[in-house]
Amino acid sequence: MSAHATPIPMTARRSGPLKGVAEVPGDKSISHRALILGALSVGETSVTGLLEGQDVLDTAAAMRAFGATVTRHGEGEWTVNGVGVGGFAEPSQVIDCGNSGTGVRLIMGAMATTPIAATFTGDASLNKRPMGRVTDPLALFGAKAVGRAGGKLPLTMIGAAEPVPVRYTLPMPSAQVKSAVLLAGLNAPGETVVIEPEATRDHTERMLRGFGAEVDVQETPEGRVITLKGQPELTGQRVAVPRDPSSAAFPVCAALLVPGSEITVPGVSRNPTRDGLYVTLLEMGADIAFENPREEGGEPVADLRVRYSPDLKGVETPEDRAASMIDEFPILSVVASMAKGTTVMRGVKELRVKESDRIDAMARGLEACGVKIEEDEDTLIVHGTGSVPGGATCATHLDHRIAMSFLVLGMVSETPVSVDDGGPIATSFPIFEPLMSGLGASVSRDNS
Ligand code: S3P
Repeated sequence: MSAHATPIPMTARRSGPLKGVAEVPGDKSISHRALILGALSVGETSVTGLLEGQDVLDTAAAMRAFGATVTRHGEGEWTVNGVGVGGFAEPSQVIDCGNSGTGVRLIMGAMATTPIAATFTGDASLNKRPMGRVTDPLALFGAKAVGRAGGKLPLTMIGAAEPVPVRYTLPMPSAQVKSAVLLAGLNAPGETVVIEPEATRDHTERMLRGFGAEVDVQETPEGRVITLKGQPELTGQRVAVPRDPSSAAFPVCAALLVPGSEITVPGVSRNPTRDGLYVTLLEMGADIAFENPREEGGEPVADLRVRYSPDLKGVETPEDRAASMIDEFPILSVVASMAKGTTVMRGVKELRVKESDRIDAMARGLEACGVKIEEDEDTLIVHGTGSVPGGATCATHLDHRIAMSFLVLGMVSETPVSVDDGGPIATSFPIFEPLMSGLGASVSRDNS
């Protein structure tokens, strides 16, 4: 689906204490993978807790276009009847992945070693994002991609008729690129090897194993070496999707900042490759307890109990932590602006190629709200003073996490903060507004 037609301006105001239970939606990364691996399996995959955000709905539609049967049975309850590894049919229409970099990059990988052609497009944000990082390694399998200048969408991919396995070292820390290569490796003979010098989220490796593939992971001096044995028979599974730590970050950070708050966020994934924000918040002095740690659906999860934390201080986040919190820097920069002292975020250049240039979007919006910022290509520095004037309308650039971050800022700044378009929030956290309002936050659409 392409971008929503009409912008949805929204405003958040200083809010009373946040109280209650925040049941955030299912993990976006795992939801995409459940649908794609279900489509590449033989038999039925049943999914509970699927995120029904637009990004994932677009991936569901794409899997149907490649021949899988994808059915919704109730809230978050879906089944996928797959076509097996190498069984994708050629889609008869253009595949529109909307706003989703994860969707388009993983699906390109999943089809790249099957002899079919598919044309991919997306919204104005996705069509600006780099695809060469995926089409380059997929070319090593024998796939061909023809896109716009710079390898951008719309792009047609012609899958390799006689794929060869690949050994590929990631040039940037990207779980999407790693996953595209591993999914392509499924239909290549022999062993496909991906080497990641810096660890990125490992849901693809975990889930591939769960669906029956042989995946070996070795920690070596050159990084994590992931070896996939090609042409396995994947079989349908039950997938219980844990709640998304990247979505949980918004109520968690709001509760840390709004005086008198105490909330619980149950069943959140604590996968160590996704945990960097929580490590950082604890270093800043946040009061977060991780209760009832357990395993659900192959992922470690816990219930988060979060209390207002008045004495947060600035910290430095090291370069080697960036991948484990890559989607959380926008909301961390809001927390940093309300903390006392300087927060230095290092190794963040990948933020420049997300749904928006997130360093630029946060820096401009925070400056407009009266926060002192410094930035270079790979670093964002926020000078926190313990309070933020607010009073600005911030541009979200079709980026859900920018929109939600500035709305959280508005809940604690001296004067309200608005965003020009909250529509993209529906891509990952469609219940953000009712969930935050239910906790006691003052957030609303401007024209309602
Ligand atoms: C994702 C990987 C990350 C992340 C994105 C989801 C995934 O992107 O930012 O929201 O599910 O694999 P990169 O691979 O571009 O770092």
